[in-house]
Amino acid sequence: MQDKKDIRDQAYLSGEDLKQLNFIHETKEYVFRKYYRSGLRSHIFEVLLAKDVKKETRGELVDGIRVFPRAKPEKMFRILRQRFKNCDAVFLEIKKYNLLLKWLGTELIATSEEFIVDYTGMGETQIVLCGLQEYVDGDIIDPWRLFDKDCLKDLFKTRGYDKTQVQNHLKILQGSIFSFVSRIRKMITHTGVIPDLAGNGNLIVTPEGRLKLVDINNIVQFNMDDTILIDDKGYPSCDVSVEVLSILEQMVMNKNDQANDPLYRLFLSPERKKMVKMLERSFYKRL
Ligand SMILES: Nc1ncnc2c1ncn2[C@@H]1O[C@H](COP(=O)(O)OP(=O)(O)O)[C@@H](O)[C@H]1O
Ligand SMILES: [Mg+2]
Repeated sequence: MQDKKDIRDQAYLSGEDLKQLNFIHETKEYVFRKYYRSGLRSHIFEVLLAKDVKKETRGELVDGIRVFPRAKPEKMFRILRQRFKNCDAVFLEIKKYNLLLKWLGTELIATSEEFIVDYTGMGETQIVLCGLQEYVDGDIIDPWRLFDKDCLKDLFKTRGYDKTQVQNHLKILQGSIFSFVSRIRKMITHTGVIPDLAGNGNLIVTPEGRLKLVDINNIVQFNMDDTILIDDKGYPSCDVSVEVLSILEQMVMNKNDQANDPLYRLFLSPERKKMVKMLERSFYKRL
């Protein structure tokens, strides 16, 4: 059973493969294609219209010229790698997503229809959590690049916007980041949970200048104490997410008096940051 090929690792899922993913009906209308960006916790597939994929590979004539438009996902299909012991554990995960939705709202996260399936493709029954998620077009934002003042502006320049358009989009983005940070801070105060803001690709800036959290499944409950929590992959995602929050506040909202902020005073103390760096290093070594 061990060396049985995991269908979820394939680039495309069609016909026979979909049959192996016992919880998906075979369809000719849609194509499931492995997304070119990936993460550690989820298998991510684009759900594309078959006719769009055909156009992408065969091209279409526009004003006598053959063009090959990239098929745009109708949805993103996420299969979580995490194994759940029982249904209650999965319900807890879904509850956390609903919490995120409640505090951040549909404008700031990629909304998802979460569902539980019995996956039998590996020869045994596994409880698997899946999500059919809104596709978010845009560029990944790397919070550590925000120390470069032009980083956000550059996101729009590469889209061919003129100076005024860049300024307008920048304003929208600053507003979006402002509400993102305030809502996350409210969520922390009221619930003691924080989503993973640190993972590669978790935050996306849309062409219209909106910030969206797309990784909605790694949400950590924490206490205001000295414990540095590590997630199931051994990463101190809670501490690093607090640091990302502080970077957003500092670099985009120009809040520089963080030494008086209880959250940052605790999480960003030099001793604690040193420990977090060590944990991060050992995480990357193990990758
Ligand atoms: N709904 C979405 N729209 C666009 N890109 C997405 C979406 N969901 C995930 N991605 C991209 O796929 C990659 C992995 O997604 P992520 O949610 O971070 O997975 P993981 O749970 O494995 O960390 C990231 O680069 C992210 O930007
Ligand atoms: Mg992620």
